[in-house]
Amino acid sequence: MRTPDIPKRLPDIVIVTGTPGTGKTTIAKKLARKHNLDYIDVNDIVKEHKLSEGYDRKRKTRIVDEKKLAKILESIIKQARKERRRLIIDSHMSHCIDPKLVDLCIVTRTSLRKLANRLKRKGYHKAKIEENLECEIMDIILEEAKHAGHKVKVVET
Ligand SMILES: Nc1ncnc2c1ncn2[C@@H]1O[C@H](COP(=O)(O)OP(=O)(O)O)[C@@H](O)[C@H]1O
Ligand SMILES: [Mg+2]
Repeated sequence: MRTPDIPKRLPDIVIVTGTPGTGKTTIAKKLARKHNLDYIDVNDIVKEHKLSEGYDRKRKTRIVDEKKLAKILESIIKQARKERRRLIIDSHMSHCIDPKLVDLCIVTRTSLRKLANRLKRKGYHKAKIEENLECEIMDIILEEAKHAGHKVKVVET
C-alpha cells in the first residue's frame, strides 16, 4: 500500500473514513501498530452503547444515530487527550466528529472495479454493493469530510 501523503509522524488523534470496502480497517490497524496509536473500532462502540436504532432490511444494514455516536467519540477523544493517549478511529462515520477535536482525517479510496470485487468477496448483498459503488463514484465521504472542515489526506488502496 502506497501512503505518500501520510506524514512520517502521525498526530495524536487520527480518524479513518471512506466508503465500506475501501480499506479503512486495514490501514487503520497498520498505522496503529506502526505509530503506536490505540485502535478504536467504532462498530464495538455502536454495540457497547446500543446506538443501533434498528435494521434496514432492504439494505441489510444497521441504522446508527450519528449525533449520539459523535458525542460518545468526542468524549473518548477528550479522555484520551487528558491521559495523553493517541488514537486512530476506524469508521465510515468517523468524520461526524467535530473537526476541532481531530488532528488528521484519512479518507481511503479505491477503484470501482476493486471495490466491487472486494464487496462481492465479503458477501455483500447486491443492493448494498451498488449503494457503496455509488457512494464512491460521487466521492460522498470525501466531500462530507472536507465540507465538515477536516484536515483531509486521501489514501488510494
Ligand atoms: N491496500 C490494499 N490493497 C489490497 N487489498 C486491500 C487493501 N486494503 C484493503 N484491502 C482488502 O479490501 C477488503 C476490504 O478492506 P477493509 O480494510 O476491511 O475495508 P473497510 O474497513 O474500509 O471496509 C479486505 O479484503 C482487504 O484485505
Ligand atoms: Mg472496516
